This record gives sequence, structure tokens and C-alpha cells, in this order.
Amino acid sequence: MAASALPQDISDAELVGLARTAMKRAHCPYSKFPVGAALLTESGDIILGCNVENASYGGTICAERSAVVSAVSQGHTKFRAISVVTELSEPASPCGLCRQFLVEFGDFKVIIGTAFNSKTLITSTRELLPFAFTPESLDTFEQEKSSAVAEISATTKEHDVAEVSS
Ligand code: THU
Repeated sequence: MAASALPQDISDAELVGLARTAMKRAHCPYSKFPVGAALLTESGDIILGCNVENASYGGTICAERSAVVSAVSQGHTKFRAISVVTELSEPASPCGLCRQFLVEFGDFKVIIGTAFNSKTLITSTRELLPFAFTPESLDTFEQEKSSAVAEISATTKEHDVAEVSS
């Protein structure tokens, strides 16, 4: 979706307003459940996303992921906040897949709003997905692998020295 440069000090209410704009673009002929998202990047750009459904239902992409995919495609990988809105009367939490997708990009603010009233739930990507599997988990795995290899090679060398001297 279109990106536009906005000041860094955009308010939560303004971000919710932009998510409402995005919601109007939802392609949801099957569920008739429009969702909009507005992602605030580190650089102050706003990237909009909406749910895009498909006749092959599994092909559907949620608004949050649509915003992130759009942002990354435009070169943004650092985010300050995302706002998500639906037409429900209470703020509706992002689905599990979207939580995983968001936390990939770190801990940032999540403002969950609604289309027709001013209720909001303020949380964060980390809070939405406790005990998350993140890129750090893979970094840890790499580190553990390297130290295991180093340990094996040290043991092998000790063994070789012992064999030569006996
Ligand atoms: N949906 C989202 O866009 N975000 C969520 O976090 C939950 C669900 C969409 C997917 C589908 O188009 C519709 O809402 C009904 O599930």
C-alpha cells in the first residue's frame, strides 16, 4: 500500500485513524470482516495494510501481515508501532500467525482500536506473544553449534596427542 512520510510524533489516535482508512480497502468478500492496519516505521513513514482474502481461502493474508510485507518490500524493517482496527465494538487481538509475524521485527507498540468508537487496547508485540520463537533463538542455536564444534575439535586434538605419545 502507499507509503507517505509523516512526522515521527504521530499520536495513537492518528495511527488508529489511518488503520481505519486502510480497513476501507479490505478485500473480504468471504468473511465480510474488514481489518485495517497502520504501521509506523522507525523513519516515521506510515505503511497501510488490509486483509486480502482469496477464493482459495487459505491464501488469505491478514491486515497486519499485509502491512509488514508491504513495509519490508519498501525497505523498512524497523518499526515503532502498529495500529489495528476491526468493526467489532471492542478492540480485537491479532491472530497467532500475525503475532509471530510482528515479533520477528522486535518489540514495538501495538494499538488495537475499533472502527466506530475510541476504545483502544495498548500492548506490544512481545506482550502479545510471550515465550516467542524469535530470530534470537536461531542466533543462540548458531552459537551453541559453534561452541560444540570447538569442544569436539579440542577433544579430538587431545586424543591425537595422546595416541602419538603412547
Ligand atoms: N484477520 C486479520 O486481518 N487480522 C487478524 O489478526 C485476524 C483476522 C482477517 C483474516 C480474514 O480475512 C478475516 O479477518 C476473518 O478471519
